[in-house]
Amino acid sequence: PSTDNLPAAVTDTVTVQSPNVKYTEQYIESKYEYQTTKVEETCGRFTVTPKTESYVFRTERQVPRLGVMLVGWGGNNGTTVTAAVLANKSKLSWHTKEGVRHADYLGSITQASTVSLGTGPEGEVFIPFKSLLPMVDANDIVFDGWDISSLNMGEAMKRAQVLDYNLQTQLYPLMTKMKPRPSIYIPEFIAANQKDRADNCLTGTKWEMIEKIREDMRDFKRKQQLDKIIVLWTANTERFSDVQEGLNDTAENLLASIKKDASEVSPSTLFAVASILEGVTYINGSPQNTFVPGVIELAEQKRVFIGGDDFKSGQTKMKSVLVDFLVSAGIKPVSIVSYNHLGNNDGKNLSAPQTFRSKEISKTNVVDDMVASNSILYKPNEKPDHCVVIKYVPYVGDSKRAMDEYTSEIMMGGRSTIVIHNTCEDSLLASPLILDLAIIAELCERIQLRRAEESEKEFQRFNSALSMLSILCKAPLTPRGTPVSNAFFRQKACIENIFRACLGLSPLNHMALEYKME
Ligand code: NAI
Repeated sequence: PSTDNLPAAVTDTVTVQSPNVKYTEQYIESKYEYQTTKVEETCGRFTVTPKTESYVFRTERQVPRLGVMLVGWGGNNGTTVTAAVLANKSKLSWHTKEGVRHADYLGSITQASTVSLGTGPEGEVFIPFKSLLPMVDANDIVFDGWDISSLNMGEAMKRAQVLDYNLQTQLYPLMTKMKPRPSIYIPEFIAANQKDRADNCLTGTKWEMIEKIREDMRDFKRKQQLDKIIVLWTANTERFSDVQEGLNDTAENLLASIKKDASEVSPSTLFAVASILEGVTYINGSPQNTFVPGVIELAEQKRVFIGGDDFKSGQTKMKSVLVDFLVSAGIKPVSIVSYNHLGNNDGKNLSAPQTFRSKEISKTNVVDDMVASNSILYKPNEKPDHCVVIKYVPYVGDSKRAMDEYTSEIMMGGRSTIVIHNTCEDSLLASPLILDLAIIAELCERIQLRRAEESEKEFQRFNSALSMLSILCKAPLTPRGTPVSNAFFRQKACIENIFRACLGLSPLNHMALEYKME
């Protein structure tokens, strides 16, 4: 087989000098002291015990050739992310009325943010996030996918009306060569107004369609000579599925229901099941409850990663920073009202009450953990009023408007109202997140860990519900019974510090003690 287009050989930007870190040809192995604090409360008094546990992390160094299959490939996000990677790979520039623009990855944590490594002779040293550990380069990702609309990717890019015309004309010849594979269309799960674009649909029983989707994955992997693939749902938001005993409550029941062609199993659940059975990580970029209990159990049984839900791209990302800031500053948000209007196909689909409801649920739970963290401000179960409105306004296209009003109580009966108005192309916010989700999930597949004292035990992967993706998701999926963290900078600290642990480096603590003594 040809080795053209293989990513460059592994070159480590960071080399750690420590007796706790070992480099082999295959792995970076680190011994890591994990420090936590155990708390017991009796009548408002706390007994606190510091705890230290030793872990061994093992990170595979070889970066695979990665393929990403998008469900909803011909949509605004699917076409935009594919076009963006092609444009970056080919180092394209284009003319706009403001001048020449060059392809970039702004908005991607892995490609455009930095992490603090430590202190050098001239102060803190920051490196690109993507250089911390061996990660897939965004430019090397190969795309494929499915769509219920048969339009080729060149025409679909035009339909999306996201990228500048001058860039579209350069990409069009490349994009037209790509065509979405036929997909699973079950009309009652999305808005009725989507029917007229559904001309690329699989037929047969649900089980037959799962088999076909699995075959597509193998076909893509084989034809593109990929080491690994990841499947990500960026298709229309579906309505919630009913969770029923005997239907989808266990892995066994779910598989049996699919074999019986049960009507209440959604396309997204079928894609998730197909991916899990194929051993392929599945990520849900939309709000619906794809991950019914049966899917979660199946993923656990097969030890496959699932992640989601719903890209945290704009208004909710802001909320997960702003409410964290207010509550951490001792200010009490009492009313949060969020209006959106947008005119792309996502907005059209969300104009139906059932699909809107999925979005409303995922958008409103985001402040709960921050509110619950401050019992000085809030009584048990007290929450701010929180209202989310979304309207479809075709004229604004992909340029979504988000308007937020945060009203907070301040000292001595005072009131503070913050109003935010954001306008930007929705798909240009979501596309970099698709890259980050794929790149971080892929890296997590190469990380294993075990407790140091259990040296007889095998290394294990993270839990199937991959909570490391929380920073990119509005309603983070976490392993059953474990806490959800929505605050953006906590989430960023979590991934930074776990990746540092893979290098045997202590968590970033911002204490800067070295500057605090003579
Ligand atoms: P879009 O409507 O342009 O694209 C969705 C595509 O999915 C369409 O081409 C449609 O034909 C296709 N589709 C529908 N059902 C399908 C199925 N069963 N199988 C395969 N393809 C199917 O929407 P857009 O703007 O790309 O957004 C995609 C999803 O991402 C939506 O659910 C949206 O709510 C979600 N999302 C988007 C964000 C953003 O753009 N900033 C943020 C958060 C979530």
